[in-house]
Amino acid sequence: MVKTNRANFGSKLGIILASAGSAVGLGNIWRFPYETGNHGGAAFILIYLGCIILLGLPIMISEFLIGRRSQANAGRSYSILKPGTQWKWVGRIGVLASFLILSYYSVVAGWTLEYTLQAATNSFAGKSANDFIVSFQLFSGNPWRPLIWLTVFLLATHFIIVKGVEKGIEKSSKMMMPALFILLLILVVYSVTLPGAEKGIAFLLKPDFSKVNGEVFLGAMGQAFFSLSLGMGCLSTYASYFGKHTDLARTAFSVGIIDTVIAILAGFIIFPAAFAVGIQPDAGPSLIFITLPNVFQQAFGEVPALAFIFSVMFYILLAVAAITSTISLHEVATAYLHEQFKMTRGKAAKFVTGGCIFLGIFCSLSLGTTKEYTLFGMGLFDLFDFVTTKIMLPLGGLLISIFTGWVLDKKIVKGEITNDGTLKGVIYPYLIFILKYIAPVAISFIFINELGFLK
Ligand code: PHE
Repeated sequence: MVKTNRANFGSKLGIILASAGSAVGLGNIWRFPYETGNHGGAAFILIYLGCIILLGLPIMISEFLIGRRSQANAGRSYSILKPGTQWKWVGRIGVLASFLILSYYSVVAGWTLEYTLQAATNSFAGKSANDFIVSFQLFSGNPWRPLIWLTVFLLATHFIIVKGVEKGIEKSSKMMMPALFILLLILVVYSVTLPGAEKGIAFLLKPDFSKVNGEVFLGAMGQAFFSLSLGMGCLSTYASYFGKHTDLARTAFSVGIIDTVIAILAGFIIFPAAFAVGIQPDAGPSLIFITLPNVFQQAFGEVPALAFIFSVMFYILLAVAAITSTISLHEVATAYLHEQFKMTRGKAAKFVTGGCIFLGIFCSLSLGTTKEYTLFGMGLFDLFDFVTTKIMLPLGGLLISIFTGWVLDKKIVKGEITNDGTLKGVIYPYLIFILKYIAPVAISFIFINELGFLK
């Protein structure tokens, strides 16, 4: 391992929680349910789990070892490990992806603030399912309010980023992740016991393979990369702050398990609740913003104080889960600008925040005010989501698996997996096999199978 005086995470738990903080976010609670809903339920989830195990975990371990070995930001790590080659583009494309994702992700993150405010001012009380649909449409189509929240959210992220790695990123993750988990568990219990919840549970557990096509595979693969924060140098940037005793494989397993469990829990909150009140599972990005306020009313309506407390807590924690992810997205671009162009961290962060507010405004408007302007049939918000999760991240994953499986010196790979011989590294041969053959073939196959969508 190259020794440097870079910043470091302070503890093992801090490492896991910060990486899990990056992984767990709107991807689990907002995006996973609506993608599951759009792609027919249980069969999508099974394919998703396959993608996590066969592609996600091995690629996460690869990113970890690339980051820790190079001790550098995503943009530079490949130049350090393979100087003078074109591999540097994998990192650079990742930096671009982080910038695009941060721009549209912050729009939805901003919605969580609006909903926190609504919950805190008790505006959910007494509303019906239909009222929630209408009020979401009014809000997301409003030309100003979402822009204000988007800006507030990015400024909050900015503030944590300039405070630095240990104080900012690690501390915030340590407190908020466990709280989120407990609240989700409580909500699952309420949701699955709502009258009429059985249909939602069946939707999650009974696979209907007749609905599976190439698009479902691409959706599941994209969701796996997005949810685990893979394919764009986010976890490699974090790993550059890991200590030399961190067990990379074990950390990857922990993060993968936490991330998957939280997504599944979110599914078990949202679908039973959606079916119970007759909301369509394929409502798309608005799904959690219309079903969840409903859950709180239905589940705790008899005791208004409980409905109030749970909804306020939920949206605060959702905002927190989102911010631990936006921090990691921001860090990729900030670390790149800071180290590559010798800017101060503060100045680099200002560029990123400013740029994302600018792009985020157009993403947000594309959902309402400027709806009729489309590119390839999509508004800017949908286009950014599509290009990043369905193209850039899987492509990044493909290149990363080829890089670790075929290009990088095996001594380096083994040295990182076993911490220079101090760990057994039982997974090493399996990891290499997957990275060399399975991951590249599977990702290419899913891409090629779906090339039809480009026609
Ligand atoms: N994994 C995050 C989530 O699920 C989103 C994210 C994607 C964060 C890519 C970093 C990089 O919300």
